[in-house]
Amino acid sequence: MKYLSLYCGKTMPALGLGTWQATEDVLEKALNLALNIGYRHLDTALLYDNEKIIGKVLNEWLSSDKINRNDLFVTTKLPPIAMYKEKVFNYFQKSLTNLNLSYVDLYLLHSPLGIKNVPQNKEDVVMDPNVNHLEIWKEMEKIYEKGLSKSIGVSNFNKEQIINILKNCKIQPSCLQLELHLYQQQKELVEFCKRNNIVVVAYCPLGSPGLKTYYEENNKKIEIPNLFENEAVKEMALKYKKSPAQILLRHAIDKGIGAIPKSSNENRLQENLDIFDFSLEEKDVIVLNGLDMGEKGSLTEWEPWGWL
Ligand SMILES: NC(=O)c1ccc[n+]([C@@H]2O[C@H](COP(=O)([O-])OP(=O)(O)OC[C@H]3O[C@@H](n4cnc5c(N)ncnc54)[C@H](OP(=O)(O)O)[C@@H]3O)[C@@H](O)[C@H]2O)c1
Repeated sequence: MKYLSLYCGKTMPALGLGTWQATEDVLEKALNLALNIGYRHLDTALLYDNEKIIGKVLNEWLSSDKINRNDLFVTTKLPPIAMYKEKVFNYFQKSLTNLNLSYVDLYLLHSPLGIKNVPQNKEDVVMDPNVNHLEIWKEMEKIYEKGLSKSIGVSNFNKEQIINILKNCKIQPSCLQLELHLYQQQKELVEFCKRNNIVVVAYCPLGSPGLKTYYEENNKKIEIPNLFENEAVKEMALKYKKSPAQILLRHAIDKGIGAIPKSSNENRLQENLDIFDFSLEEKDVIVLNGLDMGEKGSLTEWEPWGWL
């Protein structure tokens, strides 16, 4: 495993387990498998509606001394509905209680946007683009200072929004979690974060094949590119005797970026972890870097996906 050093002094395993779209029995089984084979970094969010099951599994592992709390790295996130200073701590506590933990390792603002109302369904959502990030960040700092989250950060924030926090904070963000994969490599933001000691963590590092189901469930017809079918990736998979997924993950990790692929499948969990026994040649890295499509490569739309 490779580790990334966070601004606040903690280290984060570069490869973690994503858990969006994983709930109940499937997640319980996957998480036990993942912990058994060595995953120690878990990514969740209040919105994924799976913190309780993660808390249950972690409690079983921690209370039977199968794992040491210091070796675990657990991330969760403040939902957009709580992007108001008076709501931050209450929502954080909900997550902490769900997770059955006395602290988390990283607490993120899930999105720069807020949701103004308490919507009953997606159609009712009223987005709030004018939430006060600085007020909210002060509440995040209090959580950090109380030792309830060992580091704090942001997700889906752009450069200007991060600069605003950097210029006005007491404790800077340790991490930016964002959509990052072969077709959207976020080169400028990654450079900016490096210069500012902010660790970047890639979500959708495999191109999120599960997004297709999500869009279908929401009656949207959106084509999701299949990164595993990219010719260069397929050729490299043959050359290195690795899978396309492993090539994609190694490409991100080699740049000092964290990655949190989600899987509920035993073989794929193992496959995604087995990326530390090879490295990509410089010429192949150049080819992969050249496949970036910038903003056009984005898979996600700015809509409240799963944000209720
Ligand atoms: N901060 C945010 O706003 C945000 C947004 C999106 C996601 N995230 C986080 O990032 C995580 C990862 O993103 P994601 O889940 O959207 O996408 P992803 O990790 O790129 O892709 C996950 C999908 O790929 C499949 N898969 C996993 N390993 C595979 C392999 N080796 N070969 C072929 N298919 C494979 C999984 O299916 P199986 O389970 O069947 O293997 C699942 O459908 C999320 O789970 C979540 O924790 C954060």
